[in-house]
Amino acid sequence: MPQEAPQRNLALDLLRVTESAAMASARWLGKGDGKRADGAAVEAMRTSFNAMNMSGVVVIGEGEKDRAPMLFNGEAVGDGKGPGFDVAVDPVEGTKLLAFGRPNAISVVALAPRGTMYDPGPCFYMRKLVVPPQAKDAVDIMAPVEDNLKKTAAALDKDVDDLVVFVLDKPRHQGLIQEIRKAGARIQLHTDGDVAGSLMAVTNTVDMMIGTGGTPEGVLSAAAIRGLGGEMQGYLDPQSEEERRNVINAGYDLKRVLRTEDLVASDDTFFAATGISGGTFLKGVQFTGHGAETYSMVIRGKTGAYREIKTRHNFEKLMAISSIDYD
Ligand code: FBP
Repeated sequence: MPQEAPQRNLALDLLRVTESAAMASARWLGKGDGKRADGAAVEAMRTSFNAMNMSGVVVIGEGEKDRAPMLFNGEAVGDGKGPGFDVAVDPVEGTKLLAFGRPNAISVVALAPRGTMYDPGPCFYMRKLVVPPQAKDAVDIMAPVEDNLKKTAAALDKDVDDLVVFVLDKPRHQGLIQEIRKAGARIQLHTDGDVAGSLMAVTNTVDMMIGTGGTPEGVLSAAAIRGLGGEMQGYLDPQSEEERRNVINAGYDLKRVLRTEDLVASDDTFFAATGISGGTFLKGVQFTGHGAETYSMVIRGKTGAYREIKTRHNFEKLMAISSIDYD
């Protein structure tokens, strides 16, 4: 086997990016103002990125769909000197979750070599099916839901009625929810946050994530799945006539099945996520009076190293050297 010298794990640098965004935005928990929460996260994320030794270009920026403040597509991040990366960001994944103080708002960032992240173009929505590593080769997004549930259950050595399926609680999923219930599986309905749902599926926190959510969120999740194992399958699923027209005019094929490797075409990925509001997956930011504790996951695609990191932050020391206002 060819050997490689150990390389720098940029996921550990990315950790500081998601931690700072999480701490800056967690001040807005439950205050009903998603825009300002997102704005605080974007600003902190931008500042932290620029301390990184890399030449990144944002290819998955959050904001267009919801007109939120953004790290816009095409924006250069990093000090411009290190290796070249596609950058995917979601400073607050689950803005409404954070605005209403609901669980599972997280801050997320991923890197992959330049040109390897899927460009969703004008397509905001895609259908996704995410399963744990044991069920990777068992499922097919084009097959009926019941078949995929049976095959996933068999691969996990469970019965269908043992399964827990993560589904976004959206009107478009009424039929899907009926199908899952009819097949006998159990369901966790979440109002938002299917990156957390995808991560929960591939870490066996739930048994499957299925449904239509954001295409950018699909690419971000795929960068993590390259390291964690498991499988995401999807297809573009525009939700309005205008979106459908734009997607077709831009030359996209709505019937093409997109696999994890199509969404991120390299395993040389780095991924970090930090909990903001806390919940069933990653604990949220805990302010301690003089600082904060954060809970994060960092993943390096190439080695599959997955670290869960608790960090204690000291605001007095931090704010003596940083322009970000955490207080
Ligand atoms: P934000 O990061 O923009 O807050 O997205 C939250 C989210 O729930 C995603 O997790 C999901 O992919 C998408 O929105 C679903 O979109 P919609 O709420 O328009 O159905």
